[in-house]
Amino acid sequence: MASNPPKIQTMISANERLQNLRNTFETKYGEPPRFYVCAPGRVNLIGEHIDYCGYSVLPMAIEQSILAAVSINDSGTIELANTNPQYKDFTLPCSKDIAIDKENPKWNYYFLCGVKGIQEKFGIAQLAGMSCVVDGTIPPSSGLSSSSALVCCAGLATMEANHKSLSKVELAEICARSERYIGTEGGGMDQSISFLAEKGTAKLIEFQPLRATDVKLPDGAMFVISNCCVEMNKAASSHYNIRVVECRIATKMLARARGLDWSKLLKLVQVQVELKASLQEMLTLVDEVLHPEPYSREEICRVLGITSEQLCAGLLSANTQHVTHFKLHQRAKHVYGEAARVLQFKSVCDSTPAESVQLLGDLMNQSHTSCRDLYECSCPELDQLVDICLKSGAVGSRLTGAGWGGCAVSMVPSEKVESFLQAVSEAYYQPDPRRAAMEKQSLFVTKPGGGAAVLLEH
Ligand code: GLA
Repeated sequence: MASNPPKIQTMISANERLQNLRNTFETKYGEPPRFYVCAPGRVNLIGEHIDYCGYSVLPMAIEQSILAAVSINDSGTIELANTNPQYKDFTLPCSKDIAIDKENPKWNYYFLCGVKGIQEKFGIAQLAGMSCVVDGTIPPSSGLSSSSALVCCAGLATMEANHKSLSKVELAEICARSERYIGTEGGGMDQSISFLAEKGTAKLIEFQPLRATDVKLPDGAMFVISNCCVEMNKAASSHYNIRVVECRIATKMLARARGLDWSKLLKLVQVQVELKASLQEMLTLVDEVLHPEPYSREEICRVLGITSEQLCAGLLSANTQHVTHFKLHQRAKHVYGEAARVLQFKSVCDSTPAESVQLLGDLMNQSHTSCRDLYECSCPELDQLVDICLKSGAVGSRLTGAGWGGCAVSMVPSEKVESFLQAVSEAYYQPDPRRAAMEKQSLFVTKPGGGAAVLLEH
C-alpha cells in the first residue's frame, strides 16, 4: 500500500524539544511556525555497502532525528537557521536552477538537495518561500545518517509548503536521488528507512521496486550503538565512491566473462539475475573470474575493450578520476556474501529458533570481518571498539553505516546491557578525555523508532 507520511496533531507545549524549537523560531522570525517535519536517523543492523549494488538491507530508525519548524513566506527565498550555532544561517534563493556545490558541502546543501528533489519532481517554477529552523539530535558524521535525515526533512517540508502530496516510497526515492547532487553515489537505504520506518520493528528494505517488510527482532536482546569518535564525512572524501566504482567495474568484468551484454549492466545484482544464479554460485564465480591482485586501469580497459577515456567518462565518478588501482575480487566477494547474510538474518528473525540471538550475533560478526578485511571500510578505532564490545558481553558487533569511522552496533542479551555499558565505558571512553567528553551521546541503547512525519500544532 502506497501510504503518505503521517500528519500528526501534536501538543507542542507537552514536548520540550518542540517547545524550545517553537521559541527559537518565534524569536528569529517573529511568528509561530506553520508546521514541523521530522525525519529519523537510522542504524543498519546488517547489509553494509550493498544497497547501491541492488541488494536488500536491514536497518531500523533510531529515536534521534532532524526536526524542522517551518513557515511559509513570500520573499522568494528559503531562510535557514539551525539551533546549533556551529551551523550558520543561510538565505537560499528559490530559483528554478538550485546550484549545489559538491566541492564544498555545507549543511545547507543537504537541505537544498531535498528542496531540489521536490522542485524537479513537480517542475515547480516558483517554489513557496520558507522560513525554517532545524534542530538535530543525530550525532553528525557518525554513520547514523544525519545528512540523509536532513535531506528527507527538507523534501518533506518542501512538499508540504508547496501543497503537494507524495507517498513515503516516492519521497524516499526522490530524496535518495537528490542527495546524489552532493556527489556521493548513495544507494537509498538511509532515505528509505527514514520514511518507511515504523516504531517497534526493523525493516528489510528491498529495491526495485522499493519496499519495506517488518523484521521482528528477537526478544531477549537489545541493540546498543557506540561511536568510535572518529568522524567520517563521506562527502568530503572519495572512499565511498571508490567502492561504488569498484563494484560497477566488477559488474562489467563478471558480465563480460560470462558472455552477457556487459555495457547495459551497472549493479552486481544484475549479473546474478541475468545468470539466474544463487548467491553461493556468484561467490564461486567471483573466485573463478576475478583475481585478488588489484586491477590497473590498463587491465580493465584491455579486458573490456574500452579506451581510458571511456573508462573515465563511463565508469568513474568525478571524485574517483585519480584512482589507479581497483580491488574487484574483494569487493564483489563482500557484496555477494553480505547479501546472503541479510537473507539469513531475516530468516532467523522469522523462524525464531531457540538459538536466534547467537545466530544473529554470528552473522553480525561475519559482516564486520567482511567489511574490515574485504571491503576495507573500517578503521583501527572501530575495530578496537567492536573488539571491546564483544569482550564486554555483546553476542554480535559490527560497524554500521558507511564506516571509516562512526558507529558500531552491538547485539547484547538484555540481562547484560547494564554491565556491557559499564565495561565499554571503562575500556573505550573513560581512558581518553576526548572520548569521555563525548560518551553521553556516543554510547546508548536503541529501539526501532518511527518514520518521518509532519507535525501540526494541536
Ligand atoms: C551510506 C549510504 C547508504 C549505504 C551505506 C553503507 O550510509 O548513504 O546508501 O550505502 O552508506 O551501507
